[in-house]
Amino acid sequence: MAREFSKVGVIGLGTMGAGIVEVFARNGIDVVAVEVDEAAVERGRGVLEHSTGRAVSRGKLSEQDQAALHSRVQFTASLDDLAECQLVVEAVPEQLELKKELFGKLDTIVGPEAVLATNTSSLSVTEIAVATGNPKRVVGMHFFNPAPVLQFVEVIRTVVTEDEVFEDVKALAIRLGKQPVIVGDKAGFIANALLFGYLNHAVSMFESRYASREDIDAAMRLGCGYPMGPLALMDLIGLDTAYEILDTMYKQGRDRLHAPSPVIKQMVSAGLKGRKSGRGFYTYAEPGSSQVV
Ligand code: 3HC
Repeated sequence: MAREFSKVGVIGLGTMGAGIVEVFARNGIDVVAVEVDEAAVERGRGVLEHSTGRAVSRGKLSEQDQAALHSRVQFTASLDDLAECQLVVEAVPEQLELKKELFGKLDTIVGPEAVLATNTSSLSVTEIAVATGNPKRVVGMHFFNPAPVLQFVEVIRTVVTEDEVFEDVKALAIRLGKQPVIVGDKAGFIANALLFGYLNHAVSMFESRYASREDIDAAMRLGCGYPMGPLALMDLIGLDTAYEILDTMYKQGRDRLHAPSPVIKQMVSAGLKGRKSGRGFYTYAEPGSSQVV
C-alpha cells in the first residue's frame, strides 16, 4: 500500500528548504521544519512569512489560508522532533560529509518505513544513502528555485532504491502540483546538467568583459525568451550554491564547461552571494529581495 505522507520533515531552511516547507504546508501536509539553532529557525520562519505575506498582498492567498498554512508548520532546532515523520527532505548546504552525517543520525530517529530524501543538486545520492543502515529507503527529491512556483521535481533513484519508495515519492510530487521525473544518480541529474554549463559560460563572458551583465541577461531574456537572464539567475540560485554545484560536476565529469569561472569563488569569498546577501552580479534593495537597485 502506498505511503500516506501526512507529516513530513524538512531540514535546512535556506533558500530551497523554506520554499519546500511552503510547498508541503500549502498542500495540507503537516511539516516539522528543522534548523541548526534558534537563530537559524527564526530566519527560516522569516523567509516563510515573507513569501506567504507576498502571496497575500497579491491576492493569491487569503489571510485565513495563510494562518492555516503557518499552523501546519512546527519550527524546531531538534532533529528528534522528526520521529513521527513519514518523509524527511534534507536541504542543508551542498557538503557531502555534512549530509552523510545527518542521514546517519536520521536513520536512528525516524521509523523503519519512513522515506529519507535529499534535495541535493549535484552530490551523489548513493553516497548519502549508504551512510544509513537502510539505503533502500533513500531517494533524491530535487526541487527548483523558487520551489513554490516551479512545477518540476526530479526524483532520483539509486541502484538500491526500492521501487515502492520512488513510486510513492513520485505520487507525492504529483499531489504537490509538480511534474515529477524519475532520473538516475549522475551529477546534475537532468536540469542542472544542462543548465550549469550555460550559466558558467555566461559568467566567463562577463568576467572577460566581452559584454555587460545587462546585455548578457537581455540576450537570453529578450532574444531567447528565457524568464530571466543567466546572471540574474545565478543571483537567484546563490553564488555559493552555484559554485558547489559546478565544482561537484567538474570533479565528476571533468568537462571544462563546468570548471567554475574564477570570479564566482572570488565573489563568494567577498560575501557577494546573490539575492540572499543583497549583492551578487546585481545589487538588491535588501538581502532576500528581488528588487534590483
Ligand atoms: N518565492 C515564492 N514565490 C515567488 C518567488 C519566490 N522567491 N519569486 C516569484 N514568486 C512568485 C510571485 O509571487 C508570482 O506569483 P503570482 O503569479 O501567483 O503572483 C510569480 O512567482 C511570478 O513572479 P513575478 O511576477 O515577481 O516575476 P516573474 O514573472 O519574473 O517570475 C520567477 C519570477 C518565477 C523567478 C521567473 O523569473 C523564473 O521562473 N525564473 C527562472 C527560475 C529558474 O530557472 N529556476 C531554476 C534554477 S536552478 C535550480 O533551482 C536547481 C537548483 O539545484 C540550483
